[in-house]
Amino acid sequence: MDSILVRGGQRLNGRIPISGAKNACLTLMPAALLCDEPLTLTNAPRLSDIRTMAALLESLGCEVAALQQGRVLVVGAERIANHRADYEIVRKMRASILVLGPMLARDGHAEVSLPGGCAIGARPVDLHLAGLEAMGAELDLRDGYVHAKAPRGLRGADFTFPMVSVGATENLLMAATLAKGTTRLINAAREPEIVDLARCLRRMGAQIAGEGTDTIEIQGVARLSGATHPVVTDRIELGTYMLAPAITGGEVELLGGKRELVEAFAERLEVAGIEVADTADGLRVSRQNGRIRPVDVVTAPHPGFPTDLQAQMMALLTLADGVSHLEERIFENRFMHAPELARMGAHIEVHGGTATVTGVERLRGAPVMATDLRASVSLILAGLAAEGETRVARVYHLDRGYERVEEKLSACGARIERITEKAA
Ligand code: UD1
Repeated sequence: MDSILVRGGQRLNGRIPISGAKNACLTLMPAALLCDEPLTLTNAPRLSDIRTMAALLESLGCEVAALQQGRVLVVGAERIANHRADYEIVRKMRASILVLGPMLARDGHAEVSLPGGCAIGARPVDLHLAGLEAMGAELDLRDGYVHAKAPRGLRGADFTFPMVSVGATENLLMAATLAKGTTRLINAAREPEIVDLARCLRRMGAQIAGEGTDTIEIQGVARLSGATHPVVTDRIELGTYMLAPAITGGEVELLGGKRELVEAFAERLEVAGIEVADTADGLRVSRQNGRIRPVDVVTAPHPGFPTDLQAQMMALLTLADGVSHLEERIFENRFMHAPELARMGAHIEVHGGTATVTGVERLRGAPVMATDLRASVSLILAGLAAEGETRVARVYHLDRGYERVEEKLSACGARIERITEKAA
């Protein structure tokens, strides 16, 4: 199992290219199931979660070709040969549930294992299922699988989400493109990945309005066709690397970054005393001298502060000059990084959904363990600022969502390397 070794204490200066969004790509790939012509995705990130989705789609009978070293993906679903998404693949990644809506919409039946995924809370899929039922699907949960049928096809419906869900909005948006009549998704998620999905579906011939607002209206069409679509920039990768010069000091330009993708996050960084500026090629983030100022953070659905940047923001605030509060409102169990950061000298108290971080003057390197994707990168950020060596174990979590971390950070002067342990 690989680990990442960081020798901290270097200021970072340079440029980091930001990849296409993992979470957008994971919903764009299953959109290919909606039609019998290939969907070409450019600007795809090269990550293990993407390979897992490719394997899942292949198991359903799709052809997936990775061109240009994986930067371009061509997904062809001329025919769905198998409508069962098996537990063995689905358990690796929760986003697998996103094949349900498209398969059901196109062929009127699908079986999908209930997902696993990051251990950050209960994360049920009840909203995905309730929405599909509102569109006329008959669902049966048995043997750990959702057995879904819509023998006469899905029909348009009004569906109000009782809480905002990114994945359920994506599943229903895809399903509604081929339903008979009009669907209105009310209290829908507004994340940039939803906007990107809607744009791609529109290129495929779908009729959609209102994406990026809380009500999306979809007029069903009889068929969709192939298209080529560039994956939107990864705002979580962008935010993560914005924190690198923030925590170490220095100045880094994030190539392809756009402030509108990370507005709420950038605003909190500025309150913490970090400079964020637009450039011709992206965003420039710098911290010259002085301590980081404490800030309070509350995670919320977009356009609020993203839960996927909470762990990394906590790493920054461990070094602030005062007390910060981080309130997690999306996932109930998302502070597993706190005890690991404490091993590096951070002062963090967690009570329910709120972490109170009392800043310290310095962190010290330590052996730590990654417990989920965003937690793992928060430990790397802390390691960049810590004195001495930090060894982050279990980096397979990291490889699910960050492409070439060592390369991107070492290009800016970080001392970071991957240690590959040979099996005994
Ligand atoms: C997506 C992102 C993930 C991000 C999350 C919130 C992908 C592949 N993953 O996950 O990185 O952290 O959005 O921004 O895009 N919920 C239910 N029932 C459901 C669905 C969700 O109760 O049927 C709850 C969840 O447990 C959670 C909240 O709703 O508390 C938000 O979850 P959701 O937005 O659905 O997250 P994902 O789509 O799984």
